[in-house]
Amino acid sequence: MGSDGTDDKSTANGDGRATSHGGADADAAISVRSLTMSFGDNTVLGGVSFDVPRGRTTAILGPSGTGKSVLLKNIIGLLHPDAGEIWVDGEQIVGMRERDIYRVRRKFGVLFQDGALFGSMNLFDNIAFPLREHTRMTERAIRDRVLANAEMVGLLDHLKKLPGEVSGGMKKRAGLARAMVTAPEIILFDEPDSGLDPVRVAYLDELVVTAQRETGATFFIITHNIPSVMRTADFFGVLFRSHLVRFGPTLEMQQSDDPVIQQFIEGRSRGPIGMDEMDESSDGGSQGAAGSRGRDDTGSGFPPRSPDAGRAPDASAGRQGRDDGTDGALADGEGTWRAGDTARNGIVTV
Ligand SMILES: Nc1ncnc2c1ncn2[C@@H]1O[C@H](COP(=O)(O)OP(=O)(O)O)[C@@H](O)[C@H]1O
Ligand SMILES: [Mg+2]
Repeated sequence: MGSDGTDDKSTANGDGRATSHGGADADAAISVRSLTMSFGDNTVLGGVSFDVPRGRTTAILGPSGTGKSVLLKNIIGLLHPDAGEIWVDGEQIVGMRERDIYRVRRKFGVLFQDGALFGSMNLFDNIAFPLREHTRMTERAIRDRVLANAEMVGLLDHLKKLPGEVSGGMKKRAGLARAMVTAPEIILFDEPDSGLDPVRVAYLDELVVTAQRETGATFFIITHNIPSVMRTADFFGVLFRSHLVRFGPTLEMQQSDDPVIQQFIEGRSRGPIGMDEMDESSDGGSQGAAGSRGRDDTGSGFPPRSPDAGRAPDASAGRQGRDDGTDGALADGEGTWRAGDTARNGIVTV
């Protein structure tokens, strides 16, 4: 397997099996091929390739600001790369018509960095939202589905509460229930641990492992949290200075002698990764909202939602919920949420 992923076509399974659909691996839920994206002079992704095996948990690790959220936005089709291919379930989405992109997006559930809940809706309605928005299920069927998902994440007794009335950990769990409620094939997580203390992260990780096992869905997690990756991921890769340093099964990665991988895994200050690349790593709250707001080609950053039109997620929490690590990397665009955009963007789980 290539060391920088530039034109690495090997699969995460590493067995050289024949590929189908052009560059995509037939066993992969998502295949990323030579993905390249720059903002002006800033090359964020310099030719990144990897396969996300179907029905397993894969993580992409990397210091803050390395392009993890940019990668995720490319996979959902919210950002368009300068070059490269992204295959989702055998369909190449780069350059696809918007209408088709919306259709492909329905395969995804997304757990946003801050849970991205509607502050004015109780947890039940938040979890029910994708079903009401994107399906024709009856209220009775919706109720059953919401309760089943709420039970899985341990929120059955809290469904009448507003997001502002529950802890950061509960918001994450509600976000996870909402991401799973439509039974998507692929669930994407943008730094699910952000803003949580280590014990809550450990609980959330347990939940992620259980949820993956129960749903059999493909889980794809971007994070900088090493212990979390060790607990949850079957495969992981490390994104560093625009490249994927290495990608492989977790056990193999742990034994890697690559200095970047070693430094990152061990969390050491000495090594190729400098302070500037590490120093924002624990606080999701500082940079994203201001750092990337409004620069996406989507205009508002991320799919706005109708019920809380014109306001940010969790607005009723008065932003005191900073403990939930709202960095807005995906759910940015505060004040720009517009009615009807959910349907237009076709994201099932927001
Ligand atoms: N819409 C955008 N316009 C310009 N630069 C961006 C945009 N989104 C992200 N960036 C830049 O891309 C780099 C990677 O950002 P990001 O993917 O958010 O990092 P992280 O790994 O922390 O998620 C950063 O230098 C950031 O400033
Ligand atoms: Mg990010």
